[in-house]
Amino acid sequence: MEIIKNNSWLMLFVLFTCFSLKSHVSFGADTISANQSLSGDQTIVSKGGVFVFGFFNPAPGKSSNYYIGMWYNKVSERTIVWVANREQPVSDRFSSVLNISDGNLVLFNESQLPIWSTNLTATSRRSVDAVLLDEGNLVLRDLSNNLSEPLWQSFDHPAHTWIPGMKLTFNKRNNVSQLLTSWKNKENPAPGLFSLELAPDGSNQYVILWNRSEQYWRSGPWDDNAKIFSLVPEMTLNYIYNFSYVSNENESYFTYNVKDSTYTSRFIMDFSGQVKQMNWLPTNSWFLFWSQPRQQCEVYAFCGQFSICNEQTERFCSCLKGFQQKSVSDWNLEDFSGGCVRKTPLQCENNSLANGKSDQFFQYINMNLPKHPQSVAVGGIRECETHCLNNCSCTAYAYKDNACSIWVGSFVGLQQLQGGGDTIYIKLAASEFESPKNNKGVVIGSVVGSVAVVALIGLIMLVYLRRRKTATVTTKTVEGSLVAFAYKDLQTATKNFSEKLGGGGFGSVFKGVLPNSSLIAVKKLESWSQGEKQFRTEVSTIGNIQHVNLVRLLGFCSEGTSRLLVYDFMPNGSLDSHLFTEKDSDFLDWKTRYQIALGTARGLAYLHEKCRDCIIHCDIKPENILLDAEFCPKVSDFGLAKLVGREFSRDDLDLSLIRVLDIGSWHSISLISPSSGEKTFVEVIAIDACHCPGKSWLS
Ligand SMILES: *[C@@H]1O[C@H](CO)[C@@H](O)[C@H](O)[C@H]1NC(C)=O
Ligand SMILES: *[C@@H]1O[C@H](CO)[C@@H](O)[C@H](O)[C@H]1NC(C)=O
Ligand SMILES: *[C@@H]1O[C@H](CO)[C@@H](O)[C@H](O)[C@H]1NC(C)=O
Ligand SMILES: *[C@@H]1O[C@H](CO)[C@@H](O)[C@H](O)[C@H]1NC(C)=O
Ligand SMILES: *[C@@H]1O[C@H](CO)[C@@H](O)[C@H](O)[C@H]1NC(C)=O
Ligand SMILES: *[C@@H]1O[C@H](CO)[C@@H](O)[C@H](O)[C@H]1NC(C)=O
Ligand SMILES: *[C@@H]1O[C@H](CO)[C@@H](O)[C@H](O)[C@H]1NC(C)=O
Ligand SMILES: *[C@@H]1O[C@H](CO)[C@@H](O)[C@H](O)[C@H]1NC(C)=O
Ligand SMILES: *[C@@H]1O[C@H](CO)[C@@H](O)[C@H](O)[C@H]1NC(C)=O
Ligand SMILES: *[C@@H]1O[C@H](CO)[C@@H](O)[C@H](O)[C@H]1NC(C)=O
Ligand SMILES: *[C@@H]1O[C@H](CO)[C@@H](O)[C@H](O)[C@H]1NC(C)=O
Repeated sequence: MEIIKNNSWLMLFVLFTCFSLKSHVSFGADTISANQSLSGDQTIVSKGGVFVFGFFNPAPGKSSNYYIGMWYNKVSERTIVWVANREQPVSDRFSSVLNISDGNLVLFNESQLPIWSTNLTATSRRSVDAVLLDEGNLVLRDLSNNLSEPLWQSFDHPAHTWIPGMKLTFNKRNNVSQLLTSWKNKENPAPGLFSLELAPDGSNQYVILWNRSEQYWRSGPWDDNAKIFSLVPEMTLNYIYNFSYVSNENESYFTYNVKDSTYTSRFIMDFSGQVKQMNWLPTNSWFLFWSQPRQQCEVYAFCGQFSICNEQTERFCSCLKGFQQKSVSDWNLEDFSGGCVRKTPLQCENNSLANGKSDQFFQYINMNLPKHPQSVAVGGIRECETHCLNNCSCTAYAYKDNACSIWVGSFVGLQQLQGGGDTIYIKLAASEFESPKNNKGVVIGSVVGSVAVVALIGLIMLVYLRRRKTATVTTKTVEGSLVAFAYKDLQTATKNFSEKLGGGGFGSVFKGVLPNSSLIAVKKLESWSQGEKQFRTEVSTIGNIQHVNLVRLLGFCSEGTSRLLVYDFMPNGSLDSHLFTEKDSDFLDWKTRYQIALGTARGLAYLHEKCRDCIIHCDIKPENILLDAEFCPKVSDFGLAKLVGREFSRDDLDLSLIRVLDIGSWHSISLISPSSGEKTFVEVIAIDACHCPGKSWLS
């Protein structure tokens, strides 16, 4: 549809230009010559058809703003890599013109006034043209001198994307850094608050800054022996890129190339404040390959002022009690930078509202405190509170380790933690406390109350179960091949649980030997949420799942308060012990890694789609990928999340499993943390480009 529409516009244009004196670029050209112009839906395409350059609308249907920029020709999801007029859109692309004027590439808006230019001086007498290269670089060439350096190139003016071959330079001669600057939001390419640059202090590391002032992430210095940035150890697992770092008397820069030119890879400074490396998959989607900082809430001021960042919520940001979103439309575009504003002025700001009531404080617990507190020398928490109450600009206080901190004016960086952290008191107008419906204190009280009741019932049950403990149990086979072991037999097999193999999120694992001398791994569950009957049902479900890439459950034990699971023993242990090791003998070659990644993806695929009751793993990580004697991977710990009653969001997990599958049928495999969906990598275990043995592996 889109293409047909564009073509018909183009036809119109061809007709139009027949009667026009001006010449426009011809269809398929890669060059804008001195006597040509670009307008409307016209584009130029690089010689090999890799990149397109022309007008685009980042929010079709929602906005009439058009920008001139560059995107991939063969990527079906239009992905902008460079924008010229980031801050000055045009609304009528047909009467706007990009042409070469006085030796510069200049964009004229609807009123034929210049709004963007390559800004070169003293070039008017030169004959120049602009060519779009396959690497994604728009170059202004001097036609009178074939050999000269480009007069101007888009690679020297990065927007938010760092494509292979580009450099992000610190110029030592004038102390100027090139910046990769985020978009304001996904629909607005205007420079946002986040930028990446090479630190100007000569430390040979990249830093991410908020508003070019607050640094919240750094790569660590370049390590020329290891060819990595020291705080990005993942770079050693790289298999598809060619990294290089250059530092001489004139400049320093890092650059990367993709070894296999069929890969489409891009690095962006995202409007989320994270840097992201994305690869385009043959399955027609961008795959998040790597991103930093790992946690969204680590991004400085991500949620703006007077807000709370919470990793556990889908949207991350919410306003403090008594505050509301400053711009609802920005928040809807996931641009939280404006933060929140007070609903009711403080009494100290407006005495006519007071009605004799003073401002009060609302308490938040388990918080990471906001940035930039001021410390006040006062005696105790009451004095700290009074100090804040008496200064109208004070908006919050915290009292910790006998020290009083206050925040004056707006503050950013408050984060909700699941436990630990500190307590902060936020100043609000007294009227914010009046409605009992909004009284969180009451709500917290009742939650605490019901938790206590549940705990009490639990305790009673426990005592009851202990008393009811059955006298003797013997090992016997139930439901097909699954064995119900007696506790004492497992005790004997594991020499009273003496040889610990590891400890996971669900409990410790011990090595054991059965009387028939077969080796087993016995997992002692530390907690579970279900009664005996349900436990047996779940266990028999898990027992029915059999796949070459899943660890086989042999049996279980359920006696009194003990719940144990018995598995095949895996002689080569878990994947992590091979990935993160110093010993050369443990190093896995790439062929084996590839096999492991593919097998893991197959195991997950089976769990996810093929067995009768779909199982979501919840805890995929190298520790849970076991290796048998032939280094065939076996996913372990599946089905346990349900057994212990762990909460999870199905959407997230499905997504991550599908991701693994996508790649499983391709030639690059990574594991993504299921608990945070696309947002975090657990570890890249295998990337294959050159040594991929080809399709035969995939069958
Ligand atoms: C534009 O310039 C090119 C080279 O300078 C020339 O070959 C071409 O004929 C010109 N086109 C028009 C329409 O003048
Ligand atoms: C470029 O376009 C502008 C605006 O339409 C026009 O004024 C100017 O003459 C053009 N320049 C050339 C060299 O064609
Ligand atoms: C064109 O650009 C000029 C200069 O930036 C601006 O004053 C004018 O309003 C713009 N015209 C339109 C139609 O946007
Ligand atoms: C070009 O120079 C003008 C005036 O110095 C400046 O306002 C504008 O931002 C510059 N444009 C670019 C693309 O650097
Ligand atoms: C530029 O190079 C081309 C061939 O690469 C040659 O035909 C042309 O004469 C050269 N022009 C100049 C000005 O050197
Ligand atoms: C660049 O920074 C260095 C160190 O801070 C300083 O010695 C030098 O004079 C600066 N150069 C310029 C051109 O500002
Ligand atoms: C960013 O810094 C500039 C000064 O460098 C300041 O004027 C502006 O308000 C800051 N932006 C935000 C969102 O704080
Ligand atoms: C890696 O990059 C360097 C410098 O850019 C280059 O000389 C080398 O040929 C590249 N190697 C590969 C395998 O692409
Ligand atoms: C640094 O710049 C000077 C002057 O442009 C040049 O002569 C020299 O070769 C450059 N050094 C390097 C390592 O590129
Ligand atoms: C104080 O509150 C009154 C009543 O709401 C309002 O009219 C007045 O503008 C407020 N003054 C200030 C300084 O906020
Ligand atoms: C409130 O506290 C700030 C910071 O401590 C101080 O700059 C300001 O003068 C104080 N205001 C009053 C009215 O005391």
